[in-house]
Amino acid sequence: MQLDNLALVGGEPVCQIDSPHYVWPRVTPAMKNAVLEQMDDSLSLYNRSGVIATFEDVFANYHGKKHALLNNSGTNSIHAAAIALGLRPGDEVIVPVYTFFATASPLMFLGVKPIFCDCGLDGNLDPYKLESLITTKTKAVMVTHMWGIPCQMDRIKSICDASGLSLVEDCSHAHGAEFDGKKVGTFGSIGIWSLQGQKIVTGGEGGVLVTDDSDLFSRALLTGHYNKRCKDEISRTHELADFSVTGFGLKHRSHPLAVAIALEQFQHLDEWIAQKTKYAALFDNVIQEFPFLKAPLYDAHRQKPAWYAYVFHFHQELANDVSIDQFEKALKAEGLRELDRPGSTCPLHAFPLFLQPERAFPGLYEKDAMKGRNNESFAVAELYYQSALKLPVWAFADEREIVEQYVSGIRKVSQWVMQDPEVFREDMKTAVGG
Ligand SMILES: Cc1ncc(COP(=O)(O)O)c(C=O)c1O
Repeated sequence: MQLDNLALVGGEPVCQIDSPHYVWPRVTPAMKNAVLEQMDDSLSLYNRSGVIATFEDVFANYHGKKHALLNNSGTNSIHAAAIALGLRPGDEVIVPVYTFFATASPLMFLGVKPIFCDCGLDGNLDPYKLESLITTKTKAVMVTHMWGIPCQMDRIKSICDASGLSLVEDCSHAHGAEFDGKKVGTFGSIGIWSLQGQKIVTGGEGGVLVTDDSDLFSRALLTGHYNKRCKDEISRTHELADFSVTGFGLKHRSHPLAVAIALEQFQHLDEWIAQKTKYAALFDNVIQEFPFLKAPLYDAHRQKPAWYAYVFHFHQELANDVSIDQFEKALKAEGLRELDRPGSTCPLHAFPLFLQPERAFPGLYEKDAMKGRNNESFAVAELYYQSALKLPVWAFADEREIVEQYVSGIRKVSQWVMQDPEVFREDMKTAVGG
């Protein structure tokens, strides 16, 4: 077979579209209208009214939950969850080693010790490694549905239930995803979502928390809200009702303009997931043609991903020793400029925040508090991270052309790798010296 020359060495790039390839969120007239209408209505809502109440109602109903609480970030929603659960200094919480750091970082404000659990080949917390990490100090387990692929919630939930542990789901990558027909965020005591700019449902910035437990809700509310909301929504008989005027002292209130945007976005969530699912299948098809590439791992009968991103894996040992750097460079040269290697979303155990928290929080952690903890190799997370390549998953039917060009770009470069790695490597040397 005669292959088209790689763009890297002067061939025609597959994708020559000049305009931005991936724009998220798409700013529509409906979104602009929502903002304008909200500007006429209110720029700050002290009580649970207007767009705040509407979003919380719609979000809670979608998830079949009693309470939803808007906050100004996902990070603060996790912080509120940790306070609501009553976590104390010295308590241990098992968290995935492979997640965005904000899944675990709010725990550090409470003197809690995050105990990292390795992931499986799907990038999610490995339930088979969870049980051995449970000690008498363990109070909770947190999971993140990484890149929109739901965790194995049946196993994780039954381990938590059997051990009397609270379960918190970080669904920041997974708005609308499902496991066994049940929405993520509804399995544990608390579910949280980020509404930050890149997220599937976004207000630019923002976060939301759901729970069925009115006591947890009251404590999360007190953590970051005060006065009117607390007076109106916390039962007079709650043991902390007398804190209502001040709350616990933090401010997590969300901006109504952000919520107006997120509410408009949320109406489209299901149609976006349906479209993303179709595009993800196109990526799956091309990736499955090449043994050195591995598609995201999930069971389509049980797991419905939200496709926040499409993370696939490159295996050098099956790629005739072409390196992931070389492969990435060749794809970029074909014009696939949205292709990325996840950077700051990496195994967390080596960050100083988690290794030496006493330097940041001397009042909460003794010297060497984490010494001897989290010493494992986290081999699967490292492998997952080192071999990961990430693509956006487009959400609109009118973006099919760009998706198809990315598919063609992957096929073109991969055929080179399979057919003539010697020539591929020589070409790489000529083009980039490496
Ligand atoms: C998995 C995960 N958890 C938590 C967060 C924090 O959310 P926010 O940026 O809204 O604070 C993010 C944000 O990127 C995230 O990806």
